[in-house]
Order: sequence, then structure tokens, then C-alpha cells
Amino acid sequence: GQGVFTYDPGFVSTAACESKITYIDGGKGVLLHRGYPIDQLADHSDYLEVCYLLLYGELPSAAEKLQFENTINNHTMVHEQLRNFYQGFRRDAHPMAIMCGVVGALSAFYHDSLEISDERHREIAAFRLIAKMPTLAAMCYKYSLGQPFMYPKNELSYSENFLQMMFGNPCEEYVVNPIVAKAMDKIFILHADHEQNASTSTVRLAGSSGANPFACIAAGIAALWGPAHGGANEAVLDMLTEIGDVSNVDKFVAKAKDKNDPFRLMGFGHRVYKNYDPRAKVMRETCHEVLGDLGIQDPLLELAMKLEDIARSDSYFVEKNLYPNVDFYSGIILKAIGIPTSMFTVIFALARTVGWVAHWHEMISGSYRIGRPRQLYTGSPQRDFVPVDKR
Ligand code: SDX
Repeated sequence: GQGVFTYDPGFVSTAACESKITYIDGGKGVLLHRGYPIDQLADHSDYLEVCYLLLYGELPSAAEKLQFENTINNHTMVHEQLRNFYQGFRRDAHPMAIMCGVVGALSAFYHDSLEISDERHREIAAFRLIAKMPTLAAMCYKYSLGQPFMYPKNELSYSENFLQMMFGNPCEEYVVNPIVAKAMDKIFILHADHEQNASTSTVRLAGSSGANPFACIAAGIAALWGPAHGGANEAVLDMLTEIGDVSNVDKFVAKAKDKNDPFRLMGFGHRVYKNYDPRAKVMRETCHEVLGDLGIQDPLLELAMKLEDIARSDSYFVEKNLYPNVDFYSGIILKAIGIPTSMFTVIFALARTVGWVAHWHEMISGSYRIGRPRQLYTGSPQRDFVPVDKR
């Protein structure tokens, strides 16, 4: 009587949509954005250009690129009253908790973006989200410190501007370190999109009901927060800190292999990649470059490499194809840049916003139905109500 369904917990073998945005070959470790390999984009492009590519399907011409940058710059400020939302949070609130709230709250400020049947309004909603995320993210950090919020400065690049809002203050000119800005930009590119991951699928599902784009992205932020997804970058650094010393690595690897122990090696494994995550490869190289250029020697990097060596020669990890994923090396770079651990997943959310928006836009612009999975009911059969004195 339940009908015929495909039962696929975790959606391991169910395609929920068609998409032209991102291609992954998990077996070969290939990731393409609109056909372009991720390592080429990370090495030669910049984040806003990748945003344009994801949204429109092609790399911009020089004129289109300039116009897009100007458009994004036009939207970097947030409504002054949004500041009041921050004041409502404890100073020690997790910044992802704040982000879930303030991004959803954008719905209450930009009413024209709620008219999602209009292509132009959808586009402006996309610009607003991409432009405002760095401002909102940096405000979380400033609020936690009790420092004044910094306004965006539009003569700076997207990444420089984020760093300025994070680390600048009104008392002195903030000088952006180009090595740091380049690394930040690369991290943004490497996180920009990843087809139908949990948070993007959440955004699509929320969007399929006709919900407004800010509400949908807030749903994506909530899904990303979990340690099995974007929260892993924070968890990796906590894990490395807990391991503490190379001599403890074997013990933690043994814990990860133990079926009765819930501990997993954070930053390892992936639903789709059964080969090295191509983003992790770039991230590892970038990690070495950035620490070298900044003259930082972080024992956590040594520890991470040792962990990777052991895990990749251990039969458990080899047989299950468990390789480092995007989250494994990113935290060490972010730490070197001076970004606190609690902000790591916020950085992921900031960078992934374009992916979420591109998927939402693709769905709304095409033909779609409300997402409505079915279930296999395993509860009680029908029975009659029993009054409380008879139970
Ligand atoms: C991201 O999907 C995306 O695209 C996500 C992402 C993106 O850009 O959007 O790439 C970003 O979320 C990266 C993943 C970050 N998460 C972590 O690093 C957390 C640790 N890894 C995992 O918990 C896990 O590997 C997942 C969540 C990434 C994947 O989960 P799956 O596909 O459901 O795989 P699974 O948990 O069923 O694992 C398969 C087997 C199991 O053993 P068996 O039951 O088959 O014997 O591998 C084992 C697992 O126990 N395993 C691990 C492990 N990951 C999987 N064992 C030890 N340590 C691990 N990290």
C-alpha cells in the first residue's frame, strides 16, 4: 500500500536534477566548473571571475569582468539596521549561528529580491548575496572582538576587502599583504561550488517551494555547518590540535578505524571522490607556499602531512579510498592568515554562496517542481486512540 519507491538513503545513487554548472568525476579526481579544471581556475583566475563563470556559464570578457566587479561593489554595504541583529547575539556566539540569522534576515530588507519570478530581480538577489557575504562574515568577527564594524572599501578586490573588514580598524590604514590576499582568493575559488552536496541540495529543496533566495541560502548555511560537511574545516584544526604531536598520530588513526569509536579522521573521505580531491591537492601546495612566504613554521602542518602519509599507507584507508578532502589543509592556511578557527566554516559559506546562488538561479530559471521525497514507513500500523486513564 506504500507505492513503489526507490529507497536510497543518503541519495547515494539518485540524481535530483539536471545541471550545467559543475562536473565531478570522483573516480579520477576531476572537478570542472563550466568545463574548466579547478586547478587552472585556482592558479590563473580570481574569485569574482569564477563567480561570473558559475553564474553565466562563460568566463567574462575584460569589459564584462569590470562591469561585474563594479556591480558587486555596488552591493557590498548592508542596511544599517542589520547591525541591530548582531547586538542581539552574545559576543561568544558561534559565527555560523549569527550567519544563519543575518542572511535569512536579508529577506526583510530587500523586498524587491523576493519577486523571484522576475529574472532581473533574481539576478540582483544573486549580486546582493555575493557582495554582502564578506561584509556580514567580517561583522561576526568584529562583533566577537567588540571592535567597530568596518565598511567595505570598493577600491579593493573581493578578497582584499574581506581582509580589510576582518583585520582593519578605523584608526589606521590597513595594508593588505598580497600573499595573504592571493591565498584568500584561492581558498574562495576552491570552495566556490561542488555540485549537489548537502548544502546545495538543501538550497535547491528550499528553493523548490518558491522560498526567497535569502531564506534558501540561510538554509544552505545551516546544512553546511555540520562537521560531516563544511564544519569539517574547523573540526580538522581542533583534531590536529588535540593530536598535538606526531607521536600520537598512530593512536588517532587506530581510533578512526575502530567501528565502536565514533571518532573519524576529519578532513578525510568523500562521498564522490574515490581518489585525491583535486581541491585538496591545490590546497596542500598553497599551504606550503603561504607558510613559506610568510615565514611561518606551523607544527600542525608537519602533523597533517604525517597523518596523511600514515592514512594513505594504511590498508583501512587505502581500501576505502579515503583521501584528504578540501577541508584538510584549508584550516592551516586560514590559521596562518590569522583567521580564528570559529570563522573557518563561515569562510566556506562565504565562498560557497555563489555556488548556492548559481544552482538556485539555474533551477528557478528552468522547469522545476517542488522537491518532495517519499519514505518507507516503518512505524505502528493503524490503531484506535486509548483514553489517558486506560493507558
Ligand atoms: C565536504 O559532498 C560534497 O561535495 C561536500 C564537499 C563540498 O565541497 O561541498 O566536498 C565539502 O563536506 C567535505 C567532507 C568533509 N567532512 C569530513 O571531512 C568529515 C569526515 N569524513 C566523513 O565523515 C565522510 O567521509 C563523509 C561525510 C565525507 C562521506 O560520508 P559517506 O559518503 O556517507 O561515507 P561513509 O561515512 O559511509 O564512509 C564509508 C566508509 C565507512 O566504513 P564502512 O562502514 O564502509 O566500513 O568509510 C569509513 C566509514 O566508516 N570512513 C571513515 C572516514 N570517512 C569514511 N573512516 C574513518 N575516518 C573517516 N574520515
